Amino acid sequence: MQARKIAEAVWWVGAIDWDRRLFDSLIPLPEGTSYNSYFVQGTKKSALIDTVDPTMKRVLFERLKALKISSIDYVIANHAEQDHSGAIPDVLDAYPMAKLVTSTKGKGMLCDLLGIAEDRITAVKDGEVLDLGDKSLQFVEFPWVHWPETMLTWLPNEKILFSCDLFGSHLASAELFGRDEGALLLAAKRYYAEIMMPFKTSIEKNLNKVVKLDPQVIAPSHGPIYKRPKLIIDAYRDWAASPPKNLVVVPYISMHDSTRLLVEHFVEACADRGVNAEQFNLAEADIGRLAMLLVDAAGIVLGSPMVLAGPHPKVAYAAILANALRPKAKFVSIIGSFGWGGRLAETLQSLISNLNVEFISPVLAKGTPRASDYQALDALADAFKSRIVQSSQQPETKMETQEKYMCTICKYIYDPAKGDPAGGIPPGTPFDKIPDTWVCPVCRVPKSMFKPIQS
Ligand code: FEO
Repeated sequence: MQARKIAEAVWWVGAIDWDRRLFDSLIPLPEGTSYNSYFVQGTKKSALIDTVDPTMKRVLFERLKALKISSIDYVIANHAEQDHSGAIPDVLDAYPMAKLVTSTKGKGMLCDLLGIAEDRITAVKDGEVLDLGDKSLQFVEFPWVHWPETMLTWLPNEKILFSCDLFGSHLASAELFGRDEGALLLAAKRYYAEIMMPFKTSIEKNLNKVVKLDPQVIAPSHGPIYKRPKLIIDAYRDWAASPPKNLVVVPYISMHDSTRLLVEHFVEACADRGVNAEQFNLAEADIGRLAMLLVDAAGIVLGSPMVLAGPHPKVAYAAILANALRPKAKFVSIIGSFGWGGRLAETLQSLISNLNVEFISPVLAKGTPRASDYQALDALADAFKSRIVQSSQQPETKMETQEKYMCTICKYIYDPAKGDPAGGIPPGTPFDKIPDTWVCPVCRVPKSMFKPIQS
């Protein structure tokens, strides 16, 4: 096995795990993964940046052997999780002069998790530089991508950013550099959804550190390397920081068709109203795909039958998962069916307490849905429409929403902050977004009879 050169005196020495199908005994890996490790040779010193999962340490050692290096001066641990750090004890044994370099928090974690002796570890701070001779490495603090200790390593002359988990993808590929940007972005989004989404606040806060570096190459520790870093930086900005999109995700289970009928009606009712709703049967689901939908969704509607006085366990699992992933959804509701009683909605609601969302009244049907249940679902779709349309308009119409209009006949003042709920206009609706069919709630003249009030 050979090392693969990615720049002058910089090699990839990682391992491709074609066959792995599960990560953390939780996350499906339909396309395997890789553990990227990099070796940098300066004129004075050398450094190994991250290692590999312990199951593949043989591959790492074979690639290092192929480079015919006699020593490693520094082993950089950007992250203490074992898929990158697990081979560090063996590397330190094989290269006894090597010093392990990591963040302050990383030092404690590597001692705790791998039993590494404290005196082998040097803790570095944000911005600190390690001199390798004609090259240097600079460390960039970027906590919570994916654990609290994470940092990035920057190779300034070559403008390569070694980002470890950040910007990674679970994608086993023979291509060191990702050429198919569509496939790469899809895998990176799945990875973001499964691993990074809970930490979107830290990503949003620190992403400009990466932008300022202006990297020419981003070399993560999972998946292909980016030769066009803007691709993944822009995607992360969208996923982590953009408002949620017009999408309601409906994860559900049905046992005797009642819940399925409710879900199908709701999804159709949403479509009729211009709301994109996607139903997702949890019976044989790929939870990675569910996580991807949650990246963009403004709404979540959980659909479940009652099982032994509570929600179906698979729906409870999806709720717990969403609670852990902390998507940016703003509105949640519950659809379900029951035979005689139980606590379906209350239990599901209690499982997503981490989410900063508005709960919209659930729709629960006793037995096979009746006309009144379908009407309630129509009202639920209306509720999602008004909220999602309203929230998607808010950022673009911030200035407009402040402008009030007065009826020239009766002097009624339309205040966008209050709207006209009785007339079907939700609070936050700017005047120019009110339908032309709307009339003055006092004197019933048309919208055209209103004039803006100059503040
Ligand atoms: Fe790839 Fe958080 O380890």
